[in-house]
Amino acid sequence: MDRIVLLPGDGIGPEVMVQARAVLDAVARRHGMELEFVEELIGGASIDQHGEPLRDEVVDLCRGSRAVLLGAVGGPKWDDMPVDVRPEKGLLRIRKDLGLFANLRPATVIPALADASALRPEVVEGIDLLVVRELTGGIYFGEPRGRATEGGLRKGFNTMVYDEEEVARITRVAFEQARLRRGHVTHVHKANVLDVSQLWMEVVDEVATEYPDVELAHQLVDSCAMLLVRDPRRFDVLVTGNLFGDILSDEAAEITGSLGMLPSASLATGGFGLYEPVHGSAPDIAGQDLANPLAAILSVAMLLETSLDCPKGAEEVRASVASTLAAGHRTGDLVLAGEERETIGCEAMGRHVLAGLEGA
Ligand code: IPM
Ligand code: MG
Repeated sequence: MDRIVLLPGDGIGPEVMVQARAVLDAVARRHGMELEFVEELIGGASIDQHGEPLRDEVVDLCRGSRAVLLGAVGGPKWDDMPVDVRPEKGLLRIRKDLGLFANLRPATVIPALADASALRPEVVEGIDLLVVRELTGGIYFGEPRGRATEGGLRKGFNTMVYDEEEVARITRVAFEQARLRRGHVTHVHKANVLDVSQLWMEVVDEVATEYPDVELAHQLVDSCAMLLVRDPRRFDVLVTGNLFGDILSDEAAEITGSLGMLPSASLATGGFGLYEPVHGSAPDIAGQDLANPLAAILSVAMLLETSLDCPKGAEEVRASVASTLAAGHRTGDLVLAGEERETIGCEAMGRHVLAGLEGA
């Protein structure tokens, strides 16, 4: 019996989790897998109940599991709290404590959605890229960090720091992924300004010699942001640090149609992973059955593939999502401003995907 820990979290997290769990349950049963689901609190929900965004017991529970499925954390209710105790800290801590250094965020266009992008369909069609984001280092975790008052002036500071091992291991993940795809890696950096990016340049070049079959390019982060909207099809695998990866993965998601579609996997060495939609807690639409559950459902596909070794189940999930969209079903986020189109809710969308699975 494999244990899966569910951490619905805050905002729309619990709603999308209900749909994602149902899909995982259905696929597991079809493939004769026995899964035990254990649900726990993270983020604001945990703060409200236990006074902290993530408890040690929950980290231990995750350690003893096969994989973790997470909804989202954060919301206006906790926005005034200091960074060290707010909901996001729970997410950062679970990533760090479980050693989830490799964050994979694939952005692909589902053909039925090419018209949902704010970009022209001819620019969007065929986008298929993967952001490989370093997730347990860089400016998110660097010391020193903090707030101070000096000479009557308030200051705030963080440190963007990587050592060569951290860079080398995420770079290897990117090159391995490129081998499974179109054989191209783009390293995204700011080496014209940052010393830490110069280290990345050196180490990425060294690791690249282990992969002569994979092509490597270096791209400045500002021009990469520009190219992502101008010519996104040029990219295959993007590898970068924590902060640049955070920003570029939202951009990459949006150009494919909606942030509501983008799944992610955060992996430790050895196949253990935490899977979560990239979209966040979207407090403005929480609790109204308006959320798009597809990013969470597609995260289930990544979980099946990577942590449960069930690529067939992953394929079934993706096929069902594609056919649900091809049939014209849309949540609100998939409809452009000004477009007249009927929309459905989170629950109905989940139901369509489930129904598609039964027919698979
Ligand atoms: C993400 C989110 C998180 C991050 C926040 C919620 C801490 O934006 O997963 O991309 O910055 O990593
Ligand atoms: Mg983000």
